[in-house]
Amino acid sequence: RYEKLWLGLSLLLIVGFIATITYGAVGAGVTMVDNGETLNPNDLGDHPKFGDPGVEQVGPNEYDVYVVAQQFVFRPGTTIAGQPPITVPANSTVNFYITSADVIHGFSVVGTNANTMAIPGEVAEVTVEVGGPQEYGIVCHEYCGQGHHNMEGLMQVV
Ligand code: CUA
Repeated sequence: RYEKLWLGLSLLLIVGFIATITYGAVGAGVTMVDNGETLNPNDLGDHPKFGDPGVEQVGPNEYDVYVVAQQFVFRPGTTIAGQPPITVPANSTVNFYITSADVIHGFSVVGTNANTMAIPGEVAEVTVEVGGPQEYGIVCHEYCGQGHHNMEGLMQVV
């Protein structure tokens, strides 16, 4: 007698989960950029942006930040691996462009809406409005191999 009710509830739960996942992907402003450009993850060295990734000022208060994720380093970001921190001025708009040089990684700037995947051959884009001076941790939240749990970085708003 209650079977139909349970079935209905289960379906509702499943729909709810899917809606949550979809909303999460869209709500966080995560966009996979496809500008038609071929991005070879094994040969980022000659790429105009990812060849020498980092922070670039593109407006009065706007910055593009190119980041390459690779086992188990963010370039830039992972200071414990000798990389500079990602440093941006306070009260600015920060556009992140993230790719991977090997496997799928995560890129999450803890405490901000920047939370995306770094996929080889693709560029993920996410924009963050930063406020006053503060330090933010960056973590890889996709399992990417033995060093995954140590894959982290630093963003400084100065
Ligand atoms: Cu990179 Cu987990």
